[in-house]
Amino acid sequence: MIDLLLGLQWGDEGKGKIVDVLTKKYDIIARFQGGPNAGHTLEFDGHKHVLHTIPSGIFHDSAVNLVGNGVVIDPVVFKKELEKLTPYKLNISHRLLISRKAHVILPTHRLLDQASEAAKGSAKIGSTLKGIGPTYMDKTGRNGIRIGDIEAPDWKEKYRALRDKHLQMIENYKVAIDFDLDPLEQEFFDAVETLKSLQFIDSEHYLEQQQRLGKRILAEGAQGSLLDIDFGTYPYVTSSNTTAAGACTGLGIAPNRIQKVIGIFKAYTTRVGSGPFPTELFDENGITLGRVGNEFGATTGRARRCGWLDLVALKYAITVNGVTELNMMKADVLSGFPSIEVCTHYRYKGELIDHLPFDIDSKYVEPVYETLKGWNADLTGLNSLDQLPHELNDYIHYLETALEVPITIVSVGPDRSQTLFRNS
Ligand code: IMP
Repeated sequence: MIDLLLGLQWGDEGKGKIVDVLTKKYDIIARFQGGPNAGHTLEFDGHKHVLHTIPSGIFHDSAVNLVGNGVVIDPVVFKKELEKLTPYKLNISHRLLISRKAHVILPTHRLLDQASEAAKGSAKIGSTLKGIGPTYMDKTGRNGIRIGDIEAPDWKEKYRALRDKHLQMIENYKVAIDFDLDPLEQEFFDAVETLKSLQFIDSEHYLEQQQRLGKRILAEGAQGSLLDIDFGTYPYVTSSNTTAAGACTGLGIAPNRIQKVIGIFKAYTTRVGSGPFPTELFDENGITLGRVGNEFGATTGRARRCGWLDLVALKYAITVNGVTELNMMKADVLSGFPSIEVCTHYRYKGELIDHLPFDIDSKYVEPVYETLKGWNADLTGLNSLDQLPHELNDYIHYLETALEVPITIVSVGPDRSQTLFRNS
């Protein structure tokens, strides 16, 4: 049995928190795409943890955590993540598995990301500069180095050939970037040795065996559906399939094995980096959402752009993913607004539409809102659904009706304990 959990907006929906909360129901947590561009935040017992590549079930002794073939791994970042976990004595060696088919981010992939963004000038994507795009380019270009390759004695020859090609490409960019490769390589090779102490596996076979044994698997997505390479706001997207189909290719699981598709969304919308965002707020309300929601990137620290909930985009993401249940995050952040706007339609080239058109740039799209009543109560200490203000209940019911999918979790704060379960 396999369930999927993925983000329905532009990332940062709170996937890490929910995976951590749900892990007790599963035997295996498997990340299926993305890489250290992700920042999955978990909070419990007064500590805040940010994971980039390691799946968010790692803090539960009972769960195996798998980094799937669809993920791109930077050994340097991975090593730092492992070091941060050391004080917690998590017995990781048996519970953290890496697919041999996952691709490796080289130091020169990061440099290429930097050179590419610098050359784009004002048209830059706003990449996290973690080398994600160049690594996926080498994967599809059939030049990449995979985790399984680093087990071979001659892998450094392969490394050097790819590095030299990258250095040539960096020279060809019109904008020069400054770098000193020696220390970067030293750090990289050192981290590769650390990585080698973990178990590399043929993960598609492993997952098949585990399914035969009746194990329960949760596939963990990264980024969000609107950053998907095919269905997101291209070219302002990441370089992988963040949607449900990405779980099949990123883990080697068949679509007919998937049961629940859990879609996570914030009660409002945020976006980090460039690209269109129809409901973005440039007024006091946007500033308040950013401040109360502490909307700063977990990986880069950049301020996130904030706006009202966009039902047109959300419905699109629900359809593309086949979402069977919804989890609404950060409901507490909306407390204190006298009224709340929800975008139900777009005015697109003069016409009223309720589907996502080819281009949602503000040149073409103007959001059309419905106004709902706000509430003024601190939700962060609530532990029962009965205590929710009736206006928030109205908001939840309104969304369930509009989206035609039940909301099974309402999150009212970053901590594990601030999670309300609904049986819709
Ligand atoms: P890249 O994947 O680092 O190249 O970034 C491409 C775009 O996706 C940029 O706009 C990033 O800000 C955005 N992005 C990448 N990863 C995340 C994430 O985990 N959360 C939110 N935005 C992300």
